[in-house]
Amino acid sequence: MPSAEHADRLDRAPEDRVLLITGASSGIGAATARMAAQGSWRVVLAARSEERLESLAAELGGSEQALSVPCDVTDWDAQQRLAGAALEAFGRIDAVFANAGFGGQRGFLADTPEHWREMVLTNIYGAALTLRATIPALRESRGHLLLTSSVAGRRVLPGSLYSCTKHAVTAMGEAARQELNGSGIRVTLIEPGMVDTPFFDNRPAGALQDADVARAVLYALSQPPHVDVNEILVRPVGQP
Ligand SMILES: NC(=O)c1ccc[n+]([C@@H]2O[C@H](COP(=O)([O-])OP(=O)(O)OC[C@H]3O[C@@H](n4cnc5c(N)ncnc54)[C@H](OP(=O)(O)O)[C@@H]3O)[C@@H](O)[C@H]2O)c1
Repeated sequence: MPSAEHADRLDRAPEDRVLLITGASSGIGAATARMAAQGSWRVVLAARSEERLESLAAELGGSEQALSVPCDVTDWDAQQRLAGAALEAFGRIDAVFANAGFGGQRGFLADTPEHWREMVLTNIYGAALTLRATIPALRESRGHLLLTSSVAGRRVLPGSLYSCTKHAVTAMGEAARQELNGSGIRVTLIEPGMVDTPFFDNRPAGALQDADVARAVLYALSQPPHVDVNEILVRPVGQP
């Protein structure tokens, strides 16, 4: 006999479920949106590149299925507008994938302080703002929160401030899991190894494809209501 919370999730028609994705204009976020839409999720697509989002939303079936919302995740007002637009369009948010982020060169004398500032703000503060903007709706839906950390958020890479930001995201996922324990909200950290996306200036060899990571996200989302997949670390075969 399922609990009331589980019954609520089980009663929901799959096509009613709404997944909000940041960093949806490219790479892992776009691949996840495509795979989720195939699995009957309605999707809310957020990133800064408006045209790319609109074209993806059109590809996924237009306004009934996919909403594109331009959003710089470092902007609190924009994040509030994003959550508001999702609720206005679809009435609920069942899952949130805080995925927007980017990297940088290794070396504490590399890159510029401005690049560091944007990276730290996007990867850490931006993810935290996504949580802040969407947790009220996830409490309502007893939903699912997923964050993109990285293998670099599990092992320290030499001279990598990016690795430091992803350790913060790993901690954020666990901090959120502990805070939300008892709310019915599930929390999953996605920790990819090297993935062939525009994250890299030069295409990496022997990397995962964006769809490989999207499958991991959909695996976590598709578990029975009592199962909370807390972490998925996935490397291409042979990555150290
Ligand atoms: N590729 C890898 O090997 C790898 C491995 C582990 C983890 N990751 C993580 O996976 C996530 C997705 O990266 P990806 O590999 O899919 O790279 P990607 O193709 O470059 O995608 C990055 C996404 O983040 C968005 N973004 C960046 N800054 C943003 C901001 N300020 N506000 C809103 N959106 C922003 C980008 O969209 P706009 O530019 O349109 O805003 C884009 O949609 C990142 O968090 C990355 O750190 C990647």
